[in-house]
Amino acid sequence: MDKVFRKIICSGILFFSLFGYANHLEGVEISISCGAVGRELEICRSGVEAWAAMTEHRVKVVSTPNSSTERFALYRQLLSVKSPDIDILQIDIVWPGMLGAHFEDISKYIEKDILQQHFPSIIEANRVKDRLVAAPWFTDVGILYYRSDLLKKYNRPVPTTWEELERTARDIREAERKSGNKNIWGFVWQGRAYEGLTCNALEWIYSYGGGTIVAENGSITINNSKAAKSIAAAAKWIGTISPSGVLNYTEEEARSIFQSGNAVFMRNWPYAWALAQSETSPVKGKIGIAALPKGGRDGFHTGALGGWQLAISKYSEHKEIAARLIAYLTSSEEQKRRAIKGAFNPTITSLYQDKDVLAANPFFSDLHRAFSSVVARPSMVTGKRYNRVSSEFYNSVHRVLSGKKEPKAILRELEKKLKRISQNEKW
Ligand code: GLC
Repeated sequence: MDKVFRKIICSGILFFSLFGYANHLEGVEISISCGAVGRELEICRSGVEAWAAMTEHRVKVVSTPNSSTERFALYRQLLSVKSPDIDILQIDIVWPGMLGAHFEDISKYIEKDILQQHFPSIIEANRVKDRLVAAPWFTDVGILYYRSDLLKKYNRPVPTTWEELERTARDIREAERKSGNKNIWGFVWQGRAYEGLTCNALEWIYSYGGGTIVAENGSITINNSKAAKSIAAAAKWIGTISPSGVLNYTEEEARSIFQSGNAVFMRNWPYAWALAQSETSPVKGKIGIAALPKGGRDGFHTGALGGWQLAISKYSEHKEIAARLIAYLTSSEEQKRRAIKGAFNPTITSLYQDKDVLAANPFFSDLHRAFSSVVARPSMVTGKRYNRVSSEFYNSVHRVLSGKKEPKAILRELEKKLKRISQNEKW
């Protein structure tokens, strides 16, 4: 009896040690949250699968809401309960100050000379005090898409001011509608009350010389006549050159209208290029890209700086392995693949000279120059309070766009609210 019992115990131990060993060989499961705008999820998935195939690990890809505002709310919830469910988080360029405390210092895992390949300003945007809280994955800038076939048909140049864009959009829309193209609109963009509207409205304001809501030194600058003028100009687009539905558009709604051939102009990020130029796209070969217009002749061409990074959650149980996956995904080879497949702008400077990358995205070399005139949202100076600042801002702009309030009055109110949030400008 004793012998039999011993045999059972021994074979049990043997079974469990073999099982444990096999399990060790199989590696662990890492989870990564990826965006799902356009082909983002599919391209993220093929990247992580390629990595997993070279290792003994598995990767679970978790898709997150398209709206940056909703994604932020989800992350904040997850991180506040210290959930180990997601090892790697794809984070927006404006979040390090707000969420950085929940992330590992990535410079502990990735070598310095590799980090030095990225745009220094993007590395800086990911630094919170002395910690580098995420590794840059791709960068973004707001740009103007236009229908080159329609501009040619009506013999109009690419507009360089907002006023010119408005006129061209209106004229082409009217002429096209008269000739039976009933669904065409002039200009589509992101007007929903969310982070994307902060980017759009900041571009209008900055292009008129109206500042950046909060200046780098922390002073609140939004209550000025140039800002009011630019928002008032945009409000006039609703129902004239832009459908009133634009008040509920994010990136993908705008893209679907433009890509189906139903808009002359679109404001969007570079990712839309790869899709609008894909084989099945009705506007393939009929589009071009330019810098967003200036606010009047004395204004500036600009584009909001966006972009996404990869961070390791402090609550992850597989930090070392997560870091290896991040190193792979943010590497030059993978950024190159993503640029060719999805028009995701690399954060590694040398890729802007790569001939395959430029062949797939001829506008990238201009964008590289455009990065010197981008406008950053005031996330560094407002730090932990950026989300509140941005939501007060986009809600205020949305009220003007939907005709509920005059720009001057709303900017006065907004200034007061921001002062309260800043606690007397000590951000
Ligand atoms: C893009 C940008 C991001 C921005 C978002 C707004 O994804 O990369 O920085 O916050 O659009 O919709």
